Amino acid sequence: MDETIIDNTHNEGNLTHTTDLEYEEIIEVLQGKIEIQTKEIFSLKKETDQLKKENNQLKRTPLFVAAVIDILDSGEVYLRQQGNNQEYITGSSEDLKNQLKPGMKVAVNNALSIVRIVANSVDSRVRVMELIETPDVSFEKIGGLREEIEEVREAVEYPLTKPEIFRRIGVEPPKGILLYGPPGTGKTLIAKAVAHQANATFIRMSGSELVHKFIGEGAQMVRELFTMARERAPSIVFIDEIDAIGTMRIHDGTSGSAEVQRTLMQLLAEMDGFDNRGDVRIMAATNRVDMLDPALLRPGRFDRVLLVPLPDTAARLEILKIHSAKMQLKNVPLDKLAAETENTTGAELEAICREAGMMAVRRDGDAITWTDFEAAMRKVKDKTQKPDIMFL
Ligand SMILES: Nc1ncnc2c1ncn2[C@@H]1O[C@H](COP(=O)(O)OP(=O)(O)OP(=O)(O)O)[C@@H](O)[C@H]1O
Ligand SMILES: [Mg+2]
Repeated sequence: MDETIIDNTHNEGNLTHTTDLEYEEIIEVLQGKIEIQTKEIFSLKKETDQLKKENNQLKRTPLFVAAVIDILDSGEVYLRQQGNNQEYITGSSEDLKNQLKPGMKVAVNNALSIVRIVANSVDSRVRVMELIETPDVSFEKIGGLREEIEEVREAVEYPLTKPEIFRRIGVEPPKGILLYGPPGTGKTLIAKAVAHQANATFIRMSGSELVHKFIGEGAQMVRELFTMARERAPSIVFIDEIDAIGTMRIHDGTSGSAEVQRTLMQLLAEMDGFDNRGDVRIMAATNRVDMLDPALLRPGRFDRVLLVPLPDTAARLEILKIHSAKMQLKNVPLDKLAAETENTTGAELEAICREAGMMAVRRDGDAITWTDFEAAMRKVKDKTQKPDIMFL
Protein backbone atom coordinates (compact mmCIF):
# COMPACT_ATOMS: atom_id res chain seq x y z
CA MET A 1 0.00 0.00 0.00
CA ASP A 2 2.78 2.36 0.85
CA GLU A 3 4.27 1.63 -2.47
CA THR A 4 1.24 2.64 -4.51
CA ILE A 5 0.95 5.81 -2.58
CA ILE A 6 4.52 6.74 -3.42
CA ASP A 7 3.99 5.63 -6.98
CA ASN A 8 0.91 7.70 -7.48
CA THR A 9 2.50 10.83 -6.13
CA HIS A 10 4.92 10.72 -9.00
CA ASN A 11 2.22 10.71 -11.62
CA GLU A 12 0.92 14.19 -11.27
CA GLY A 13 -1.50 15.35 -13.89
CA ASN A 14 -3.01 11.93 -14.34
CA LEU A 15 -6.66 12.42 -13.35
CA THR A 16 -7.17 8.81 -12.40
CA HIS A 17 -4.40 9.10 -9.90
CA THR A 18 -4.97 10.38 -6.41
CA THR A 19 -2.97 13.11 -4.91
CA ASP A 20 -1.45 13.12 -1.45
CA LEU A 21 -3.89 15.74 -0.46
CA GLU A 22 -6.84 13.68 -1.61
CA TYR A 23 -5.51 10.69 0.30
CA GLU A 24 -5.32 12.71 3.38
CA GLU A 25 -8.91 13.75 2.89
CA ILE A 26 -10.01 10.16 2.36
CA ILE A 27 -8.15 9.09 5.46
CA GLU A 28 -9.73 11.87 7.38
CA VAL A 29 -13.22 10.86 6.24
CA LEU A 30 -12.54 7.24 7.07
CA GLN A 31 -11.16 8.16 10.44
CA GLY A 32 -14.28 10.19 11.06
CA LYS A 33 -16.38 7.18 10.14
CA ILE A 34 -14.38 4.95 12.47
CA GLU A 35 -14.93 7.40 15.23
CA ILE A 36 -18.66 7.46 14.62
CA GLN A 37 -18.78 3.66 14.52
CA THR A 38 -16.78 3.39 17.71
CA LYS A 39 -19.17 5.74 19.38
CA GLU A 40 -22.11 3.75 18.08
CA ILE A 41 -20.60 0.49 19.32
CA PHE A 42 -20.12 2.10 22.67
CA SER A 43 -23.68 3.32 22.89
CA LEU A 44 -25.03 -0.04 21.68
CA LYS A 45 -23.02 -1.73 24.34
CA LYS A 46 -24.49 0.58 26.90
CA GLU A 47 -27.95 -0.15 25.59
CA THR A 48 -27.34 -3.91 25.75
CA ASP A 49 -26.18 -3.62 29.30
CA GLN A 50 -29.26 -1.62 30.14
CA LEU A 51 -31.55 -4.15 28.46
CA LYS A 52 -29.82 -7.00 30.22
CA LYS A 53 -30.39 -5.24 33.50
CA GLU A 54 -34.04 -4.61 32.68
CA ASN A 55 -34.43 -8.17 31.57
CA ASN A 56 -33.09 -9.44 34.85
CA GLN A 57 -35.30 -7.02 36.68
CA LEU A 58 -38.37 -8.30 34.88
CA LYS A 59 -37.36 -11.84 35.58
CA ARG A 60 -37.18 -11.02 39.24
CA THR A 61 -40.61 -9.47 39.58
CA PRO A 62 -43.35 -11.86 38.59
CA LEU A 63 -46.73 -10.23 38.74
CA PHE A 64 -49.30 -12.97 38.46
CA VAL A 65 -49.72 -16.65 37.99
CA ALA A 66 -51.20 -18.15 34.86
CA ALA A 67 -51.93 -21.62 33.63
CA VAL A 68 -50.49 -22.78 30.32
CA ILE A 69 -53.38 -23.74 28.09
CA ASP A 70 -51.45 -24.59 24.96
CA ILE A 71 -48.16 -24.18 23.16
CA LEU A 72 -49.04 -22.84 19.72
CA ASP A 73 -47.41 -23.98 16.47
CA SER A 74 -45.91 -20.52 16.19
CA GLY A 75 -44.00 -21.28 19.36
CA GLU A 76 -46.02 -18.82 21.36
CA VAL A 77 -47.69 -19.77 24.60
CA TYR A 78 -51.38 -19.50 25.28
CA LEU A 79 -52.03 -18.57 28.92
CA ARG A 80 -54.95 -18.02 31.24
CA GLN A 81 -54.41 -15.82 34.24
CA GLN A 82 -55.45 -17.32 37.54
CA GLY A 83 -58.22 -15.58 39.35
CA ASN A 84 -59.70 -13.43 36.62
CA ASN A 85 -59.37 -15.88 33.73
CA GLN A 86 -57.99 -13.31 31.29
CA GLU A 87 -56.24 -14.97 28.41
CA TYR A 88 -52.96 -14.05 26.79
CA ILE A 89 -50.65 -15.19 24.05
CA THR A 90 -47.05 -14.55 24.83
CA GLY A 91 -43.54 -15.64 24.12
CA SER A 92 -41.04 -17.27 26.38
CA SER A 93 -37.35 -17.92 26.31
CA GLU A 94 -36.21 -20.99 24.36
CA ASP A 95 -35.05 -22.99 27.34
CA LEU A 96 -38.27 -22.36 29.26
CA LYS A 97 -40.38 -23.16 26.23
CA ASN A 98 -38.98 -26.65 26.02
CA GLN A 99 -40.11 -27.36 29.55
CA LEU A 100 -43.63 -25.93 29.27
CA LYS A 101 -46.60 -28.23 29.06
CA PRO A 102 -50.31 -27.48 29.06
CA GLY A 103 -51.66 -27.41 32.61
CA MET A 104 -48.49 -26.04 34.15
CA LYS A 105 -48.53 -22.93 36.26
CA VAL A 106 -46.18 -20.12 35.37
CA ALA A 107 -45.28 -16.77 36.85
CA VAL A 108 -45.78 -13.92 34.42
CA ASN A 109 -44.36 -10.43 34.72
CA ASN A 110 -45.85 -7.10 33.78
CA ALA A 111 -44.33 -7.30 30.31
CA LEU A 112 -46.42 -10.46 29.95
CA SER A 113 -43.44 -12.71 29.59
CA ILE A 114 -43.08 -15.95 31.39
CA VAL A 115 -40.56 -15.64 34.17
CA ARG A 116 -40.53 -19.12 35.56
CA ILE A 117 -42.51 -22.24 36.16
CA VAL A 118 -44.37 -22.27 39.46
CA ALA A 119 -44.11 -25.41 41.55
CA ASN A 120 -47.16 -27.54 41.04
CA SER A 121 -50.15 -26.90 43.21
CA VAL A 122 -49.80 -30.04 45.32
CA ASP A 123 -46.49 -28.74 46.60
CA SER A 124 -47.78 -25.28 47.25
CA ARG A 125 -50.93 -26.33 48.99
CA VAL A 126 -48.88 -28.39 51.37
CA ARG A 127 -46.95 -25.26 52.19
CA VAL A 128 -49.93 -23.05 53.14
CA MET A 129 -51.97 -25.78 54.68
CA GLU A 130 -51.11 -27.69 57.75
CA LEU A 131 -52.77 -31.06 57.81
CA ILE A 132 -52.92 -33.05 61.01
CA GLU A 133 -54.64 -36.42 60.85
CA THR A 134 -55.85 -36.09 64.43
CA PRO A 135 -54.21 -33.47 66.63
CA ASP A 136 -53.05 -34.76 70.00
CA VAL A 137 -54.35 -31.80 71.98
CA SER A 138 -57.08 -32.74 74.40
CA PHE A 139 -59.42 -30.54 76.42
CA GLU A 140 -57.48 -31.27 79.60
CA LYS A 141 -54.61 -29.30 78.10
CA ILE A 142 -56.71 -26.13 77.99
CA GLY A 143 -57.00 -24.00 81.10
CA GLY A 144 -60.25 -22.11 81.66
CA LEU A 145 -62.46 -21.38 78.65
CA ARG A 146 -65.12 -23.89 79.77
CA GLU A 147 -68.08 -22.13 78.20
CA GLU A 148 -66.18 -21.32 75.07
CA ILE A 149 -65.13 -24.93 74.64
CA GLU A 150 -68.68 -26.12 75.14
CA GLU A 151 -69.96 -23.71 72.56
CA VAL A 152 -67.39 -24.83 70.02
CA ARG A 153 -68.19 -28.47 70.70
CA GLU A 154 -71.88 -27.82 70.02
CA ALA A 155 -71.15 -26.09 66.77
CA VAL A 156 -68.33 -28.25 65.47
CA GLU A 157 -67.95 -31.53 67.26
CA TYR A 158 -71.51 -32.70 67.86
CA PRO A 159 -72.62 -32.23 64.26
CA LEU A 160 -69.80 -34.65 63.38
CA THR A 161 -70.19 -37.13 66.20
CA LYS A 162 -73.90 -36.96 67.01
CA PRO A 163 -75.63 -35.81 63.83
CA GLU A 164 -78.78 -37.72 64.75
CA ILE A 165 -79.52 -35.36 67.64
CA PHE A 166 -79.70 -32.43 65.26
CA ARG A 167 -81.88 -34.45 62.92
CA ARG A 168 -84.17 -35.62 65.68
CA ILE A 169 -84.70 -32.17 67.08
CA GLY A 170 -84.83 -30.62 63.67
CA VAL A 171 -82.30 -27.85 64.17
CA GLU A 172 -79.50 -26.85 61.89
CA PRO A 173 -76.09 -26.57 63.51
CA PRO A 174 -74.29 -23.31 62.83
CA LYS A 175 -72.36 -23.36 59.60
CA GLY A 176 -69.17 -21.79 60.77
CA ILE A 177 -67.77 -20.54 64.01
CA LEU A 178 -65.38 -17.65 64.33
CA LEU A 179 -63.11 -17.34 67.35
CA TYR A 180 -61.68 -13.96 68.13
CA GLY A 181 -59.55 -12.51 70.85
CA PRO A 182 -56.03 -11.40 71.72
CA PRO A 183 -53.09 -13.46 70.42
CA GLY A 184 -52.12 -16.43 72.54
CA THR A 185 -55.40 -17.01 74.33
CA GLY A 186 -55.99 -20.51 73.01
CA LYS A 187 -57.98 -20.15 69.79
CA THR A 188 -55.83 -22.55 67.80
CA LEU A 189 -55.66 -24.81 70.81
CA ILE A 190 -59.47 -25.09 71.03
CA ALA A 191 -59.75 -25.85 67.32
CA LYS A 192 -57.17 -28.62 67.57
CA ALA A 193 -58.72 -30.09 70.69
CA VAL A 194 -62.12 -30.22 69.05
CA ALA A 195 -60.65 -32.00 66.05
CA HIS A 196 -58.96 -34.42 68.41
CA GLN A 197 -62.16 -35.08 70.29
CA ALA A 198 -64.18 -35.59 67.12
CA ASN A 199 -61.50 -37.80 65.62
CA ALA A 200 -61.45 -35.50 62.65
CA THR A 201 -58.71 -34.40 60.28
CA PHE A 202 -57.55 -30.91 61.13
CA ILE A 203 -56.66 -28.71 58.19
CA ARG A 204 -55.29 -25.33 59.07
CA MET A 205 -54.75 -22.60 56.54
CA SER A 206 -53.22 -19.27 57.39
CA GLY A 207 -54.97 -16.34 55.76
CA SER A 208 -51.93 -14.10 55.88
CA GLU A 209 -49.63 -16.71 54.35
CA LEU A 210 -52.17 -17.31 51.66
CA VAL A 211 -52.28 -13.66 50.76
CA HIS A 212 -48.56 -12.97 50.97
CA LYS A 213 -47.09 -16.10 49.44
CA PHE A 214 -49.61 -17.09 46.83
CA ILE A 215 -50.19 -14.07 44.76
CA GLY A 216 -52.70 -14.95 42.11
CA GLU A 217 -53.42 -18.33 43.60
CA GLY A 218 -55.50 -17.40 46.64
CA ALA A 219 -58.87 -18.37 45.22
CA GLN A 220 -57.47 -21.59 43.82
CA MET A 221 -55.97 -22.42 47.22
CA VAL A 222 -59.29 -21.90 48.94
CA ARG A 223 -60.89 -24.23 46.41
CA GLU A 224 -58.22 -26.82 47.06
CA LEU A 225 -58.57 -26.43 50.80
CA PHE A 226 -62.21 -27.38 50.63
CA THR A 227 -61.58 -30.19 48.16
CA MET A 228 -59.02 -31.60 50.54
CA ALA A 229 -61.42 -31.22 53.45
CA ARG A 230 -64.07 -33.20 51.57
CA GLU A 231 -61.58 -35.90 50.64
CA ARG A 232 -60.46 -36.24 54.24
CA ALA A 233 -63.84 -35.96 55.93
CA PRO A 234 -64.73 -35.97 58.73
CA SER A 235 -62.62 -32.89 58.90
CA ILE A 236 -62.32 -29.48 60.44
CA VAL A 237 -61.17 -26.60 58.29
CA PHE A 238 -59.50 -23.95 60.37
CA ILE A 239 -58.75 -20.63 58.71
CA ASP A 240 -56.33 -18.80 60.95
CA GLU A 241 -55.85 -15.04 60.63
CA ILE A 242 -58.92 -14.81 58.47
CA ASP A 243 -58.69 -11.00 58.64
CA ALA A 244 -55.94 -11.19 56.00
CA ILE A 245 -58.49 -12.26 53.42
CA GLY A 246 -61.66 -10.98 55.01
CA THR A 247 -60.88 -7.44 56.02
CA MET A 248 -63.40 -4.81 55.13
CA ARG A 249 -61.71 -3.46 52.14
CA ILE A 250 -60.77 -0.05 51.04
CA HIS A 251 -61.25 -0.24 47.31
CA ASP A 252 -57.92 1.12 46.28
CA GLY A 253 -58.08 -0.54 42.89
CA THR A 254 -54.71 -2.25 43.15
CA SER A 255 -54.34 -5.74 41.79
CA GLY A 256 -53.37 -6.85 45.30
CA SER A 257 -56.70 -5.88 46.79
CA ALA A 258 -58.58 -7.33 43.81
CA GLU A 259 -56.76 -10.56 44.43
CA VAL A 260 -57.70 -10.58 48.13
CA GLN A 261 -61.26 -9.83 47.15
CA ARG A 262 -61.33 -12.83 44.79
CA THR A 263 -59.97 -15.06 47.52
CA LEU A 264 -62.69 -13.88 49.88
CA MET A 265 -65.38 -14.40 47.24
CA GLN A 266 -64.16 -17.92 46.73
CA LEU A 267 -64.30 -18.58 50.46
CA LEU A 268 -67.86 -17.26 50.65
CA ALA A 269 -68.85 -19.37 47.68
CA GLU A 270 -67.35 -22.48 49.23
CA MET A 271 -69.17 -21.84 52.49
CA ASP A 272 -72.45 -21.23 50.72
CA GLY A 273 -72.06 -24.50 48.89
CA PHE A 274 -71.78 -26.44 52.11
CA ASP A 275 -74.43 -28.40 53.87
CA ASN A 276 -74.71 -27.33 57.53
CA ARG A 277 -74.93 -30.93 58.56
CA GLY A 278 -72.10 -32.22 56.44
CA ASP A 279 -69.03 -33.82 57.89
CA VAL A 280 -66.77 -30.90 57.09
CA ARG A 281 -66.91 -28.21 59.76
CA ILE A 282 -65.52 -24.74 59.31
CA MET A 283 -63.76 -22.67 61.94
CA ALA A 284 -61.81 -19.45 61.72
CA ALA A 285 -59.84 -17.23 64.04
CA THR A 286 -58.85 -13.60 64.11
CA ASN A 287 -57.49 -10.99 66.45
CA ARG A 288 -59.57 -8.28 64.79
CA VAL A 289 -63.24 -9.12 64.46
CA ASP A 290 -64.07 -5.43 64.07
CA MET A 291 -62.16 -5.34 60.80
CA LEU A 292 -63.96 -8.22 59.15
CA ASP A 293 -66.09 -7.87 56.08
CA PRO A 294 -69.72 -8.20 57.28
CA ALA A 295 -70.32 -10.62 54.39
CA LEU A 296 -68.34 -13.20 56.34
CA LEU A 297 -70.59 -12.89 59.37
CA ARG A 298 -73.90 -13.26 57.57
CA PRO A 299 -76.16 -16.20 58.43
CA GLY A 300 -75.00 -19.32 56.64
CA ARG A 301 -71.38 -18.27 56.96
CA PHE A 302 -69.62 -17.58 60.23
CA ASP A 303 -72.93 -17.28 62.01
CA ARG A 304 -71.47 -17.87 65.42
CA VAL A 305 -68.87 -15.49 66.74
CA LEU A 306 -67.15 -16.29 69.97
CA LEU A 307 -64.77 -14.23 72.08
CA VAL A 308 -61.82 -16.15 73.50
CA PRO A 309 -60.92 -13.79 76.34
CA LEU A 310 -57.86 -13.33 78.48
CA PRO A 311 -57.88 -15.83 81.34
CA ASP A 312 -59.20 -14.75 84.75
CA THR A 313 -57.37 -15.68 87.94
CA ALA A 314 -58.91 -19.15 88.17
CA ALA A 315 -58.15 -19.87 84.52
CA ARG A 316 -54.60 -18.61 84.93
CA LEU A 317 -54.09 -21.03 87.79
CA GLU A 318 -55.32 -23.90 85.60
CA ILE A 319 -53.04 -22.86 82.77
CA LEU A 320 -50.05 -22.58 85.09
CA LYS A 321 -50.81 -26.05 86.46
CA ILE A 322 -50.99 -27.49 82.95
CA HIS A 323 -47.69 -26.01 81.86
CA SER A 324 -45.78 -26.75 85.04
CA ALA A 325 -47.20 -30.25 85.47
CA LYS A 326 -43.96 -31.96 84.51
CA MET A 327 -41.67 -29.51 86.27
CA GLN A 328 -39.94 -29.85 89.61
CA LEU A 329 -41.19 -26.95 91.69
CA LYS A 330 -39.95 -26.04 95.16
CA ASN A 331 -42.26 -23.93 97.31
CA VAL A 332 -43.94 -22.23 94.41
CA PRO A 333 -47.48 -21.15 95.30
CA LEU A 334 -49.07 -21.26 91.84
CA ASP A 335 -52.17 -19.46 93.14
CA LYS A 336 -50.01 -16.52 94.14
CA LEU A 337 -48.45 -16.58 90.69
CA ALA A 338 -51.92 -16.62 89.13
CA ALA A 339 -52.96 -13.68 91.27
CA GLU A 340 -49.92 -11.68 90.22
CA THR A 341 -50.23 -12.26 86.49
CA GLU A 342 -53.25 -10.23 85.59
CA ASN A 343 -53.62 -9.37 81.89
CA THR A 344 -51.45 -12.28 80.89
CA THR A 345 -52.36 -14.62 78.06
CA GLY A 346 -52.10 -18.39 78.11
CA ALA A 347 -49.16 -18.24 75.76
CA GLU A 348 -47.37 -15.83 78.11
CA LEU A 349 -48.08 -18.03 81.12
CA GLU A 350 -46.62 -20.95 79.23
CA ALA A 351 -43.56 -18.82 78.46
CA ILE A 352 -43.23 -17.86 82.13
CA CYS A 353 -43.16 -21.53 83.15
CA ARG A 354 -40.61 -22.31 80.46
CA GLU A 355 -38.40 -19.35 81.36
CA ALA A 356 -38.52 -20.18 85.07
CA GLY A 357 -37.42 -23.69 84.18
CA MET A 358 -34.54 -22.27 82.14
CA MET A 359 -33.45 -20.10 85.09
CA ALA A 360 -33.19 -23.21 87.24
CA VAL A 361 -31.31 -25.06 84.51
CA ARG A 362 -28.87 -22.18 84.15
CA ARG A 363 -27.99 -22.13 87.81
CA ASP A 364 -27.87 -25.92 87.78
CA GLY A 365 -30.51 -26.19 90.51
CA ASP A 366 -32.60 -29.19 91.52
CA ALA A 367 -35.95 -27.49 91.30
CA ILE A 368 -37.60 -24.28 90.18
CA THR A 369 -38.09 -21.73 92.92
CA TRP A 370 -40.30 -18.71 93.42
CA THR A 371 -37.32 -16.47 92.60
CA ASP A 372 -37.00 -18.20 89.23
CA PHE A 373 -40.67 -17.50 88.54
CA GLU A 374 -40.32 -13.87 89.57
CA ALA A 375 -37.42 -13.41 87.17
CA ALA A 376 -39.29 -15.24 84.42
CA MET A 377 -42.36 -13.08 84.95
CA ARG A 378 -40.32 -9.91 84.54
CA LYS A 379 -38.61 -11.26 81.44
CA VAL A 380 -41.80 -12.37 79.70
CA LYS A 381 -43.69 -9.22 80.59
CA ASP A 382 -40.86 -7.04 79.28
CA LYS A 383 -40.92 -8.88 75.99
CA THR A 384 -44.64 -8.49 75.57
CA GLN A 385 -45.04 -4.80 76.31
CA LYS A 386 -46.35 -4.45 72.80
CA PRO A 387 -49.46 -2.60 71.65
CA ASP A 388 -51.68 -5.71 71.72
CA ILE A 389 -53.74 -4.20 74.48
CA MET A 390 -56.91 -3.41 72.65
CA PHE A 391 -58.74 -6.28 74.32
CA LEU A 392 -57.44 -5.72 77.80
N1 LIG B 1 -56.17 -21.52 77.77
C1 LIG B 1 -54.96 -22.08 77.60
N2 LIG B 1 -54.62 -23.18 78.27
C2 LIG B 1 -53.41 -23.74 78.13
N3 LIG B 1 -52.47 -23.28 77.30
C3 LIG B 1 -52.74 -22.18 76.60
C4 LIG B 1 -54.00 -21.51 76.71
N4 LIG B 1 -53.99 -20.46 75.88
C5 LIG B 1 -52.79 -20.46 75.29
N5 LIG B 1 -52.03 -21.48 75.70
C6 LIG B 1 -50.66 -21.79 75.30
O1 LIG B 1 -50.26 -20.82 74.35
C7 LIG B 1 -49.98 -21.40 73.10
C8 LIG B 1 -50.54 -20.53 72.00
O2 LIG B 1 -51.94 -20.57 72.03
P1 LIG B 1 -52.80 -20.55 70.72
O3 LIG B 1 -51.97 -20.86 69.55
O4 LIG B 1 -54.01 -21.36 70.90
O5 LIG B 1 -53.17 -19.03 70.69
P2 LIG B 1 -54.13 -18.28 69.68
O6 LIG B 1 -55.26 -17.73 70.46
O7 LIG B 1 -54.44 -19.16 68.54
O8 LIG B 1 -53.19 -17.09 69.28
P3 LIG B 1 -53.07 -16.31 67.90
O9 LIG B 1 -54.21 -15.35 67.86
O10 LIG B 1 -51.76 -15.64 68.02
O11 LIG B 1 -53.12 -17.36 66.83
C9 LIG B 1 -50.62 -22.76 73.13
O12 LIG B 1 -49.92 -23.67 72.36
C10 LIG B 1 -50.59 -23.11 74.58
O13 LIG B 1 -49.38 -23.72 74.92
MG1 LIG C 1 -53.69 -19.18 66.62
